[in-house]
Amino acid sequence: MWDRRHFMSIYDLDGADVMHLLEYAVETKKKAVAGELPGLLAGKSMAMIFRKPSLRTRMSFEMAMVGAGGYAFYVSDEEIKLGRREAVCDVSRVVSRFVDIMMIRTFDQAEAEELAKFAGVPVINGLTDMYHPCQVMGDMMTVIEHKGRIEGLKVVFLGDGNNVANSWINAAAKIDFEFVLATVRGYEPDEAVLSRAKKDGAKVEIVYDPAEAVKDADVVYTDVWTSMGQEGEAEKRRNEMRPLQVNADLLRAARPDAIVMHCLPAHRGEEITDEVMDGPQSVVYDEAENRMHMQRAVILELLLK
Ligand code: CP
Ligand code: NVA
Repeated sequence: MWDRRHFMSIYDLDGADVMHLLEYAVETKKKAVAGELPGLLAGKSMAMIFRKPSLRTRMSFEMAMVGAGGYAFYVSDEEIKLGRREAVCDVSRVVSRFVDIMMIRTFDQAEAEELAKFAGVPVINGLTDMYHPCQVMGDMMTVIEHKGRIEGLKVVFLGDGNNVANSWINAAAKIDFEFVLATVRGYEPDEAVLSRAKKDGAKVEIVYDPAEAVKDADVVYTDVWTSMGQEGEAEKRRNEMRPLQVNADLLRAARPDAIVMHCLPAHRGEEITDEVMDGPQSVVYDEAENRMHMQRAVILELLLK
C-alpha cells in the first residue's frame, strides 16, 4: 500500500492505489470543469524545483494548486544550485519550513529521493532520467476517458526505452494491461525496472518490429527520441530510431479505433508526423490537460489524506 508520504514512482503504489487515484482524478476533473471545486487547497503552498526545462509540468502543477485555492512558485536551479551551492539535505529541510509540498524535476532519481528523504513535507517527482510518474498517471486517466478503461487494453509505445517508458512498465506491474515497447537495439528500457515488472507478472514485452507491434493496439504512444540531457546524441538517435516513427502507414496496422498519444513536447516529423499528431485519432492535447487534473488528485491525496 502507498504510504502517501511522497510520490516518487508508480511502483511505490499498489494496484488499488493506482485505480483509486485514476478514479479520483476523473471525479475531481468533472468538478473542476463544472466550477464546483471548492478551495480544497486554500492556504497550501508548493515549491516547484526545476533542473530541466518544462512547459506542461510547470503550468499544470501551478494551475492544479491555484485552481483549488492554493499557491505555487517556480524555483530554477540557477538560483538554488541543488547539491552544489547547498547540500540536497539542507535544501530539503529548509524548503520544508516554508511550504506544504514540493515538486522536483531533475536528472538523477537518487537526487529526487534524497530530497524526499530529508523533507518534512511530501515531495512529488516531476520527471527524472529514470521516471515520469505524473505523466503516465495522467496518460492512463486519458486512456480511461477515451476508451472507458485501461485494464485489458494493449498499449504500444514506439521509441526510446526512456523515463516515460520505464513509468509505463511500472504501471503495467500494478494494473492489468498489455504494454509492448517497440524499440531498436541499444534503446531498451532500464533492465532492473523491466525484470522486476516481469517477476511481478506484468504483461510487458520488448520487440523490434514496429508494424508487428502495433497490431491490435488500442493505444499507440510515442515520445521524443532524444530526452532532455541527451542533446549531444540527437543526430545518432534520429538516425537509429527512424524506423519507429508513428506515421499514417504504421497507424493503419493498429485497431481502427486506436488512440494516439504523445507526452509532448513532440518533434514533429521525427517520432510523429504532422498528419498523425493533428489527425482524428490523436488525443495529445487532452493528455496534456490531464496532467493538471491528475496532479491535483495526487496533491489532494498527499495533503488531505
Ligand atoms: N510532458 C511533459 O512533462 O512536458 P514538459 O517537459 O513541458 O513539462
Ligand atoms: N522523455 C522526455 C520526456 C519529456 C516530457 C524527456 O525526458 O525529455
